[in-house]
Amino acid sequence: MAGLIPQDFIDDLIARADIVEVVGRRVQLKKAGREFKACCPFHDEKSPSFTVSPGKGFYHCFGCGAHGTAIGFLMEFDHLSFVDAIESLAGAMGVEVPRSESDQPAKRYDELFSLMDTVSRFWQDCLKDSPEAVAYLQKRGIDGSTAKRFGIGYSPDGWSTILDKFGQSDEATERLLATGLIIRKDNGKHYDRFRDRLMFPIRDPRGRTIGFGGRTMGDGEPKYLNSPETVLFHKGRELYGLYEARQALRQIDQLVVVEGYMDAVALARNGIDFVVATLGTATTHEHLNRLFRLTDNVIFSFDGDSAGAKAAWRALENALPQIREGRQIRFVFLPEGEDPDSFVKDNGADAFVGLLDKGIPLSEFLIKELASQVDMNSIDGRARLAETARPLINRIPVGVYRELLINSLAEAVGLTAAKLEKMMAASSAATDRPTQASQAFAAKRRRPSASGGPSVVRRAITLLLNHPEACQKLDIEKLAGVRRAGVDLLAALIETVQSEPNITTAGLLERWRHDEKGRHLSKLAAANVPNDDEFDPAAELNECMQQLALAGRKERIEFLIQKQRLTGLSDDEKSELTQRV
Ligand code: GTP
Ligand code: MN
Repeated sequence: MAGLIPQDFIDDLIARADIVEVVGRRVQLKKAGREFKACCPFHDEKSPSFTVSPGKGFYHCFGCGAHGTAIGFLMEFDHLSFVDAIESLAGAMGVEVPRSESDQPAKRYDELFSLMDTVSRFWQDCLKDSPEAVAYLQKRGIDGSTAKRFGIGYSPDGWSTILDKFGQSDEATERLLATGLIIRKDNGKHYDRFRDRLMFPIRDPRGRTIGFGGRTMGDGEPKYLNSPETVLFHKGRELYGLYEARQALRQIDQLVVVEGYMDAVALARNGIDFVVATLGTATTHEHLNRLFRLTDNVIFSFDGDSAGAKAAWRALENALPQIREGRQIRFVFLPEGEDPDSFVKDNGADAFVGLLDKGIPLSEFLIKELASQVDMNSIDGRARLAETARPLINRIPVGVYRELLINSLAEAVGLTAAKLEKMMAASSAATDRPTQASQAFAAKRRRPSASGGPSVVRRAITLLLNHPEACQKLDIEKLAGVRRAGVDLLAALIETVQSEPNITTAGLLERWRHDEKGRHLSKLAAANVPNDDEFDPAAELNECMQQLALAGRKERIEFLIQKQRLTGLSDDEKSELTQRV
């Protein structure tokens, strides 16, 4: 039933709930400055470390880490389900939970799906009428039947093509907004999100269009513009090309995971249909779950550059918990500067399949990478290897595979498995930093210009959670093209606040309650952010956005320079580079 309570009702309820009253009715609270304190009801303690912040609508225990909103508190303290907690809170506030329109959400979803489908077909028609778009596709080696199979279209230039055609009533405009096809301006007016771009519909496994990726055909920015997170579309879950692969194949023996839309389409064009692409995000647990539901044989083939190598390592880290006997996970490393698209064009499908056959197993990639970070001849180096391997190996489910991996690792270091395991145990006592290896890896590959790193994203999210009101004016387009951990989440948060200006910290946390990332959000929301007159959260947030945009631009320039050196640049890229430098 949870899905049947309208989201705006939940937002509103949380915004109006008084957490001090909700908690205070169950726990003795004492005022302490702007906050309230108590001995934590969730663990035994003598001095109070349980804090309730009325401003944020949020509680947090510095002793045991318990935290949450009024709803979360009711769930924990009264042992209620999410829906029951909402009922209880609403009851206490004297409002009724709307249920009468219980069939409305389903109907609304249908309308959104059908809108996406209509727009997708409209853009396909526009493609036929655009000689430039057709020429671009030809230049990229995509023939008509492949374009048709993937539903590739063209969004005409102009600020209101979609708006005028499909946004004739208020409801229709709302639907366009809900699907991310248009953007609302500060003054309440709207404009088309996708203009003069080649459009790739992203379909769910049932073939329904849930989002789009739009590629500029010139040197516009960003190169790819994706639909925002919407009720239909969650970037971290979807795999581009999955539906098309399933349509093309009777049986899926293996799936190749690539980074780009164009990689997936180009491989399909060349008869390699068992390909999916992640949508500019790292490979997530959800992706892997989806992949392994279809096949036991997954091959990652990322670009032959440092970003590709980093993406491969991230995929490895996330794949570790999914390792089972019978499953095969391999990695294919393309020559420097190549992506699957360019490789298959230059060398043909057989050569690409040849590469797949030579893909290295996950275990080998892991050992090679770890070994390359240390001096295997020194005792110190081996100790470090044991230290970096431990958290990774701990993620692999206990079983034969894990044993085998420890054995291979031991062999690679020239130790017995028993000795290695002993070292790993010792290092666990000495230090407990679970992502040591990934940090070392990232540090090795990350360029020295660390400005705008993940800490900036973190800071921005922390500020936003604590001061949602401060991000009304932020320009989300600044984040386009910035490819950093957490940027997607930051963008989704900004978008949510901008479309729900009254949302509170607690409201945001509830929105992400069912999301993997929600856990981290609560921690950031608990951070102590200044709240005095001197402090200007909007300015701070703006500063973060500038830094990120700058870092994104720098990365792009460095990428272009590197590419120029390795493979040369296209005309578009050349002029982009001259404009930027
Ligand atoms: P082309 O061959 O140049 O068309 O692109 P590609 O498919 O090789 O993509 P690339 O390797 O440059 O990037 C891989 C994926 O990252 C793309 O398919 C997009 O999903 C995503 N991506 C690339 N550039 C951008 C960008 O500027 N903004 C966003 N949001 N995503 C991007
Ligand atoms: Mn490419």
